Amino acid sequence: MFLSMIPMGMFASMIPQDAWFRNHYYVVHKTIGVLIFSLLLVRLIWNRRSKRPELDASLKPAERKWAHRVHILLYVLLLAMPVTGFVMTSYHGYPTFFFAWELQPLWGESDAYIIWGTFHKYILPYLIYIILGAHILGALKHHFIDRHTTALKRMVG
Ligand code: HEM
Repeated sequence: MFLSMIPMGMFASMIPQDAWFRNHYYVVHKTIGVLIFSLLLVRLIWNRRSKRPELDASLKPAERKWAHRVHILLYVLLLAMPVTGFVMTSYHGYPTFFFAWELQPLWGESDAYIIWGTFHKYILPYLIYIILGAHILGALKHHFIDRHTTALKRMVG
């Protein structure tokens, strides 16, 4: 869901103001965003209550540190995307949707939407490309070069 939201969001920005489906499309983008946010909260509670799997025993201490840092950063990005989307939308004076439920902006309109929009539309997506790219390349290195054949299985299993 998270990955599909990036091209979905790019398309949202391209829809002409007068297109008949613009509002419908925004409802879908916002609904999925709120869903991702809610699932993330469930996931964070789950993480606290269950025992996290141990990292692969063959990892060096520096690799363990980096794996931990990248995981935290991925969670921060997962959280930051829906939050910046919501704040940008609210400062713009528009409601947020969760299916048929409509949440009106919690505060007044302001030009601050430009700053929040810069994060939602540019800074965070580029950070996601870099971090996710590094994460995937790291996993492939472990699988194909270091021959830790369990690495990929553990990520998708
Ligand atoms: C995980 C959640 C989300 C992701 C990954 C995401 C991603 C994106 C991306 C990549 C863009 C377009 C960037 C561009 O212009 O190229 C975008 C646009 C947009 N997003 Fe999100 N979004 C998420 C959640 C939300 C939420 C929760 C809201 C509002 C409540 C929201 C509101 C919007 C709006 C209104 C636009 C269009 C902005 C404009 O063109 O001015 N997004 N989103």
